[in-house]
Amino acid sequence: MFAGPFSESILKRALENQLIQIALHDIRAYTTDRHHVCDGTPYGGGGGMVMKAEPIARAVETVLAHPAGWTLPPQAAFVDLPPWNENAPAVLAADVPVILLTPQGRRFDQSVALELSQHSRLALICGRYEGVDERVRSQLVSDEISIGDFVLSGGELAAMVVVDAVTRLLPGALGDALGAHQDSHSAGTDGLLEGPHYTRPHNFRGEAVPDVLLSGHHAQVARWRREQSLLRTLERRPELLAVAAEKLSKADRDFLSAHGWGSAQEQ
Ligand SMILES: C[S@@+](CC[C@H](N)C(=O)[O-])C[C@H]1O[C@@H](n2cnc3c(N)ncnc32)[C@H](O)[C@@H]1O
Repeated sequence: MFAGPFSESILKRALENQLIQIALHDIRAYTTDRHHVCDGTPYGGGGGMVMKAEPIARAVETVLAHPAGWTLPPQAAFVDLPPWNENAPAVLAADVPVILLTPQGRRFDQSVALELSQHSRLALICGRYEGVDERVRSQLVSDEISIGDFVLSGGELAAMVVVDAVTRLLPGALGDALGAHQDSHSAGTDGLLEGPHYTRPHNFRGEAVPDVLLSGHHAQVARWRREQSLLRTLERRPELLAVAAEKLSKADRDFLSAHGWGSAQEQ
């Protein structure tokens, strides 16, 4: 599942340049029974299966006891697992968040991505089926993240979303250092939406590029971009203007008022 996204574009380059390391761990490899069972029926009945706590704890604690990038050697899988105390939780490094991907977690956004990008190592746990045994949450996990109010079949896609968004924020990950800074929801746009972009041709099906972008007048271009960012945010996500309110200049406020911003709920 991970091969495609991790072998393209920015993530591929970040891996090649050793800006990041990604190690994938198959929880089944951390089972010790003959059939390598990772799931069980839920206590109390009901449909679906629940991921067992023990293989997840064994996987996370074993992996985090090793340097970043370590994976279980293939020949060790199923037979020769490193020593692990099944009766006592390992003491995990406080600065390595152990994150469960779950639709019940705090909502992932750019500020959470920025926060996670400050850590040198992250552990992401992907659930399947009905999710994981509650004791994974209570004993192992330090953070729970949801990528939105919808339910995916597994945590893998959510983990890839987190890895992508966090990697973009690492210095050197993007060719253009300004890129991530100027994106929507970022510091360079004061958390607002970014305005429109144009490239050649000048005229596409009768729609020309706005004159100001051809003027060569940097201050005017910057003001136009700011206004487009304000306008777009007002039209699509007015609640973001309230969050960014203290960063809005008088000129920003006047521009927004002239475009209908001003009702009590919008400010
Ligand atoms: C079918 S879901 C389980 C949903 C669970 N029964 C519930 O209602 O909260 C299976 C797995 O997909 C992942 N997942 C599903 N939706 C997600 C979301 N919005 N964000 C992050 N992970 C999600 C989680 O890892 C979860 O354990």
